[in-house]
Amino acid sequence: MDDMQRLKEDYPWIQTPLVVGAPMRLIALADMAVEVSKAGGIGFIGAGTDVSDLESHIQHAKTLLNDTPAALPTKNRTLPIGIGFINWGADLETAIPIIAQHRPAAVWFFAPSSTASLVQWAEASRTASPSTKIWVQIGSVKDAVEVVQQISPDVLVVQGTDAGGHGLVQGASIITLLPEVSDAIDALHHRTQRTKPILLAAGGISESRTFTASLTLGASGCVLGTRLLATPEAAISSGYRSAILRTTDGGQSTVRTKVYDSLRGTNWAGTHNARGIITQSYVDAVEKGMSQEENTRLYREEMRKGDEGWREGGGRMTAYAGSGVGLVREVKGAGEVVREVREGVVGVLERVGRRARL
Ligand SMILES: Cc1cc2nc3c(=O)[nH]c(=O)nc-3n(C[C@H](O)[C@H](O)[C@H](O)COP(=O)(O)O)c2cc1C
Repeated sequence: MDDMQRLKEDYPWIQTPLVVGAPMRLIALADMAVEVSKAGGIGFIGAGTDVSDLESHIQHAKTLLNDTPAALPTKNRTLPIGIGFINWGADLETAIPIIAQHRPAAVWFFAPSSTASLVQWAEASRTASPSTKIWVQIGSVKDAVEVVQQISPDVLVVQGTDAGGHGLVQGASIITLLPEVSDAIDALHHRTQRTKPILLAAGGISESRTFTASLTLGASGCVLGTRLLATPEAAISSGYRSAILRTTDGGQSTVRTKVYDSLRGTNWAGTHNARGIITQSYVDAVEKGMSQEENTRLYREEMRKGDEGWREGGGRMTAYAGSGVGLVREVKGAGEVVREVREGVVGVLERVGRRARL
């Protein structure tokens, strides 16, 4: 069975090539997850590091799904959405009963504190809900091989450095990372007969051209993060959304840094930083040498200003975004985005085909 058939068997409501909504913590909640799945993608609720509200987000998603005229077909009566965890902070003891009860189609693991803890999460999840597929987001060839050897995930999300939000400090874009991961997984399969995971691409994909490129690199689908920030379903302030829409030239206007984590007091390991739009806080910290204490004080003051905190020139509020932000130019419904990105692939391939024949 090829990967596209495997995807359709595991998630019968989807259309391929698969478009996935990233489990953006505090941002991708029930509305986003359900709209993405209804459009033939797979939507994820971003539980992140704190699972205390997860039960209520899932209840909300179930209500939205019940209101859909035609139920989405699923395998073994799983829920047609996934749940994303940031494993170094998420509480396993709280999460597992929720997985057992609601049986999401997939769980997404990211940034575990150790391989041993990832193994623990995978085993507990499989026991709690055997039909729930295990997805892991990785950012290096080494991590890809290790994760496949240790837990045989169903899906590997290959995250390149263009991605918005958190990822490895040291990395490569998907243009080199994906084919090398694909080759390494193939080699491992030939050596050990270990089942190959399906590969999805994440990082810098916001429209059909970049999605098509990732398919040529070996992905069976893509993950959209930054692009989905410009949707009514994203739980973000209008100031943040406006910053996404006006920002262009992402390589220049965004940066991977730990400055935003320091200001927000989030405890990511040294291996990870995050890509966001360059703000006054970043300029003050990195170019002007402002103390952490003063910068944090100004950041906290700015938090009280609401949308104004994301203003152009001088704004201090963090706006995580990937380097594809310049290609995000208008607000559209999450479902429309998913359909547009997927359906545009054929046209792009036709144009490439014509060029290749010249
Ligand atoms: C605002 C924002 C929040 C994110 N939060 C999470 C998260 O909670 N968990 C996670 O696994 N990935 C998270 N990511 C990363 C995504 O999973 C994905 O790798 C990334 O969005 C893909 O790149 P793109 O932003 O260029 O589409 C986040 C990304 C963004 C932009």
